[in-house]
Amino acid sequence: MKWVYVLVACLCFFNSLVDCKWKHERRENHWRENANEVTTASSYRQDPPDHTKLIPMARYVLHNADWASLATISILPAIEGFPFSNVKSIVDGSLANSTGVPYFYMSPLDFSARDLAKNSRATVLVSLEETRYCENKKIDPEDPRCTRLMLSGKMKKIKERTPEYVFAKAALFERHPAMADFPPDHNWFVAKLKIAQIAMIDWFGGAKYIPVRDYLAYNYTGTEMLQFHNKGLQK
Ligand SMILES: *[C@@H]1O[C@H](CO)[C@@H](O)[C@H](O)[C@H]1NC(C)=O
Ligand SMILES: *[C@@H]1O[C@H](CO)[C@@H](O)[C@H](O)[C@H]1NC(C)=O
Repeated sequence: MKWVYVLVACLCFFNSLVDCKWKHERRENHWRENANEVTTASSYRQDPPDHTKLIPMARYVLHNADWASLATISILPAIEGFPFSNVKSIVDGSLANSTGVPYFYMSPLDFSARDLAKNSRATVLVSLEETRYCENKKIDPEDPRCTRLMLSGKMKKIKERTPEYVFAKAALFERHPAMADFPPDHNWFVAKLKIAQIAMIDWFGGAKYIPVRDYLAYNYTGTEMLQFHNKGLQK
């Protein structure tokens, strides 16, 4: 009698495996169909590059992101040493001139700057969903086709009055006009991530690691941010 139960259980388990595999395949086909759809509705800025072009894709996602999640090692007493993440408005250069380096406008009063004063190690996360591309294509933010970029490294304060400071501050204020009205007594400074590792989820097949040198050397000539901005001004 007992064996009958075991047999039934085994059959059910086997069936659920087959069922599961089938569902998975159907899902992947459905994904591929969606991915190949051409849509003219574009509340997002412009289609991203071909997913096999890893460096253009990485640079596109960062250049088109207005904000990032910044993860640091916390100094808050209750969670000392825990990872802690925050939202920061970013640019990777001016609208017309992408550098691939994320720049930040920070105050020593903020969580992140306080953590970074003790430990400058950080990870910066940006997602293609920030352009609304994924939502438009009905792709979930965690779907690997909704490309995401995790830049890790050490955060560095940029010295005032250097050409890089002037460039980065102007770029931050160009993309985030609200920064001009941030409270003047918060000792704002400009910082950047000195990138040590670039990890990217881009399409199926696992994580991609992009050589930092090639990523930085790539001449990104996309003008979609500039066009998007100019269109906004015309409205
Ligand atoms: C872009 O920025 C770099 C410095 O980050 C500068 O050397 C270059 O001249 C700039 N190009 C344009 C078109 O502004
Ligand atoms: C990047 O590409 C643009 C357009 O093709 C070109 O004008 C510019 O000189 C290039 N910049 C570098 C640093 O190669």
